[in-house]
Formats: sequence, C-alpha cells, structure tokens
Amino acid sequence: RTVYVNGDFLPEHEAKVSIFDRAFLMADGVYEVTSVLGGKLIDFDGHAKRLQRSLDELEMRSPVTPEELLQIHRDLVEKNGIVDGLVYLQITRGAPDDRDFVFPDPETTVPTIVLFTQNKPGLAESPAAKTGIKVISIEDARWGRRDIKTVQLLYPSMGKMMAKKAGADDAWMVEDGFVTEGTSNNAYFIKGNKIVTRALSNDILHGITRAAVLRFAREAQMEVEERNFTIEEAQGADEAFITSASTFVMPVVEIDGVALGDGTPGQRALRLREIYLDESR
Ligand code: PDD
Repeated sequence: RTVYVNGDFLPEHEAKVSIFDRAFLMADGVYEVTSVLGGKLIDFDGHAKRLQRSLDELEMRSPVTPEELLQIHRDLVEKNGIVDGLVYLQITRGAPDDRDFVFPDPETTVPTIVLFTQNKPGLAESPAAKTGIKVISIEDARWGRRDIKTVQLLYPSMGKMMAKKAGADDAWMVEDGFVTEGTSNNAYFIKGNKIVTRALSNDILHGITRAAVLRFAREAQMEVEERNFTIEEAQGADEAFITSASTFVMPVVEIDGVALGDGTPGQRALRLREIYLDESR
C-alpha cells in the first residue's frame, strides 16, 4: 500500500513517525475517516470542515490547505486503486524533542499528517445491512469533549470488545441514563414516522453521515426529533439504526437482547440507507 506522510507518498513500510509524536505518547491528534464508493469520495467537504473544527478546538494547525487535502485523498485513492474503501487521515500536534505535558511551540514543532487507504470491495453491499446488527448498552466512560474527533479510542475499542464478548456487534454508550452514541457511530430509533436521535452537543460526535441522513429523512417527510432517549425507549421502538462513514445507515435489530419488531432490519432504516447511498454516490 502507498501511504502519505508529511508531504511524501511512500510504500507503507518506509513510512516513519517519531516515537516522540504527541499522538503516540498522549493521543494528541485528530482524525477523519472518509468512505470511497466507486472511486468517489463521499461527503469529503463535511469531513474537511469537521477536521478544521477539531483542529481549532485543540489549537492545532493543519499542515495542508483543504484543497491540498482533497488532492492528497484523490491521489491516494488512485495510487492504491481503491474502488470501494476508506481513507484514514490523522493530524497530530507533532513530535517535540522530549515528552512534556505542555504543548510544544508551534513555531518549532510542526504537525504530523498521515493518510492511508483501506480497501473494502463491496463496502456498500455489506451483508450486515441485510441481517442488521445487535448492540448492547455500556456506560459511557469517555472524556467530555466527544465533539472533537481525537484519536483517544481506547474506550470505544474496549466497548467493541465488550460487545463481541457478549455475542453482539457493537455497543451503545449510556450517560446519566441516556444513550449518547455508538462506539464509532451515531444512534437512532424509529417509532411510527418519527426518527429520534440525541441532539448535537459536546457529548457526541457531530456525525457527517448523521447530518446527511437527517436531511434526507426530512425530505422524505419523516419526522426528526433530536433529544435524549433511554435504552428502554429504544427497545420499545419499531426500528433502530446507526450511521457512520464506514457503515452508512446500518439497521439495529436487537438492543440488550431485546429484539426490535420482528428482529429483522426495519423498512424505514433500509429505505434511508438506500436514499443515502443513492444521493451520495
Ligand atoms: N467513526 N460517533 C463516533 C464516536 C464516531 O467515532 C463516528 C465515526 C461517528 C460517525 O461520524 P461520521 O458519520 O462522520 O463517520 C459517530 C469513524 C467512522 C471511525 O472511527 O472509524
């Protein structure tokens, strides 16, 4: 695979990042994942905007302009012959001379930028979309700025493992009795003609797929309610689903062992998946 590191396209085994990099030592970095379908980048502008917001919130600077970033994405997709897949982008605060909690001087320590592709043939035809996924609920033990897309992914990773051990596919995180989001996706349920999902705040990531899907849902005359909800309320719903750049719209058929409806993907969730894929490709 050809990867991109600090201005160079290189074979992955030649790519190097310092052991003093702040992301390696302190998870001091932000990232984005953009999907590729039929060679086309999906929702790139949204991801680029959110990246800038994450950087601003952490007083970090991008080493490249948005135009350069788009070009790097396109070059990498082409160099790796990606038809369907993902582009992973990470920007860190860089590698100072030594480990120190204080942010390094941005004049002397420049950000590290890394991009790589993941080849996922048939990404949009995922078999999971036909069966739906099962989720369990877990405590949300993350920090309080989940609106910033940082590379602190240990807890989400542990959550995914808890789900696997419980025979499920993913976990929905719960704080003060209310669902925040999935380990790496936003969470929704549908009751009647109404979609319910948590409102945007620092408590969740402002999903790029979420924004598009809610727009399409409203255009399709579905009602959208952005508010807190409990696991019990979602268990009593007709349907549920998650959204993310890598899963698009993925039906949820079971929450903490309770099947939704007849335990198969809901019609509205599948319709939203279809609309999202049609409109984005
Ligand atoms: N995850 N919430 C969390 C905690 C996420 O990590 C993600 C994305 C989302 C969905 O955001 P978007 O629709 O912009 O992808 C919500 C990416 C895909 C990942 O970590 O791989």
